[in-house]
Amino acid sequence: MRRRGGGTAPADDDGAVIVELHLADLHPALEDPALNSMNFLNEVAQDYPDAVSLAAGRPYEEFFEFSALHRYLDLFRQHLVDDLGQDPVQVHRTLFQYGRTKGIVHHLVARNLAVDEGITVDPEAIVVTVGCQEAMFLVLRALRADPRDVLLAAAPTYVGLTGAARLLDLPVRPVATTDSGVDLADLRAQVHRARAEGLRPRACYLMPDFANPSGTSLSLADRRALLDLAAEEELLLLEDNPYGLFPATESRRLPTLKALDTDRRVVYLGSFAKTVLPGARVGYVVADQPVVDADGGKGLLADQLAKVKSMVSVNTSPVAQAVVGGVLLAHDCSLVTATVRQRAVYADNLRHLVHGLARRFPAGSSVGWTVPAGGFFVVVTVPFPVDDALLHRSAREYGVLWTPMAHFYGDGAPVYALRLSVSAVTRDDIDRGLDRLAALVAGEVTRRDSGPGAR
Ligand SMILES: Cc1ncc(COP(=O)(O)O)c(C=O)c1O
Repeated sequence: MRRRGGGTAPADDDGAVIVELHLADLHPALEDPALNSMNFLNEVAQDYPDAVSLAAGRPYEEFFEFSALHRYLDLFRQHLVDDLGQDPVQVHRTLFQYGRTKGIVHHLVARNLAVDEGITVDPEAIVVTVGCQEAMFLVLRALRADPRDVLLAAAPTYVGLTGAARLLDLPVRPVATTDSGVDLADLRAQVHRARAEGLRPRACYLMPDFANPSGTSLSLADRRALLDLAAEEELLLLEDNPYGLFPATESRRLPTLKALDTDRRVVYLGSFAKTVLPGARVGYVVADQPVVDADGGKGLLADQLAKVKSMVSVNTSPVAQAVVGGVLLAHDCSLVTATVRQRAVYADNLRHLVHGLARRFPAGSSVGWTVPAGGFFVVVTVPFPVDDALLHRSAREYGVLWTPMAHFYGDGAPVYALRLSVSAVTRDDIDRGLDRLAALVAGEVTRRDSGPGAR
């Protein structure tokens, strides 16, 4: 069959004509590179199973135990009976039925925030979500009310945030960062610039602790200055904190923005993916901002987010929440206590990676790197642009995977940096990965020096 335009109508394997859609007719964000990033980075690892992956920001799998799942489920079941006074029918319903939109472990999350972070929050201000990813989506959906709305975000920015914003037609304006996190002068300048253009900056998204991908952290003085600046500019802050429990040294962790927040300016995004179990897909948002309606009635932003959630995922799986709840109960609601082993391994890996870089790229070499105070990620700068084609060549010819930093800028400009992750590897993997990375860098430098145009 001939089609308008001269092509052949699409058909399935049996020759039956089938419907074909055009990408250009779907939401424009689906053509945006930000939405391909996560899949691309996952798939590239599958294409090269023998390569050492210093790319994945996932937790180390040896920490997960199948048998522990049952123990945690049972602890939570017992908690429903002993602490919440539920009878067997109620327990059955809580665990197996559709449930409360804002979640069933909100009270334990509130206790966890008090114990580990010194954050005091009404459990009603917490929405338990399908990973932190859903939490970001709910918040951005609620904030994006008008075509003039824009989001500011510390750049480089986590792709999950950029992708969610694009899907919601919410432009993201980058805010510069320094070695010590978001550049406060640039943040103020960006707010003023956006307003001068008639736009409404709704919030600034950032990770004050061991950011993904930059690894940077904000000093205590800058946290306070940021809160003051946000108050002066009447700007909400979206604080994302998946890595805060993984400092590289045992020195005291800095307070989160939310812990320092006295005027409910901070919407706090939490994830149990790195601390407990990514497969549970449980995260949360603390949204304790009062929302006033047209009749003067008041509720919390969390209640508005719950409305959005009821139309996105109905509720977070109670079984998954029960597992996370069990882990919290097993450790008196302290994830600091629950993650002692993880913290030691990630900190050791981070030190090993940084020392390994110093050994392979001596002072004076054209390669540089960050030395983060914690978290999973180190950014390596190299004397050539780093793109997806180079990543493929690295995997194919050198057997090592990493993440091109270009994915975290999304403006198409060349980026001379890559991200290494220490979370899903052993010391041996790091050694082998760095040997291969050093070979790649040497190969690239030689190739470029001797290629066409080389002087
Ligand atoms: C900065 C940041 N925020 C959010 C997430 C997503 O967390 P979750 O797995 O809970 O959706 C990640 C995952 O890597 C992340 O790095």
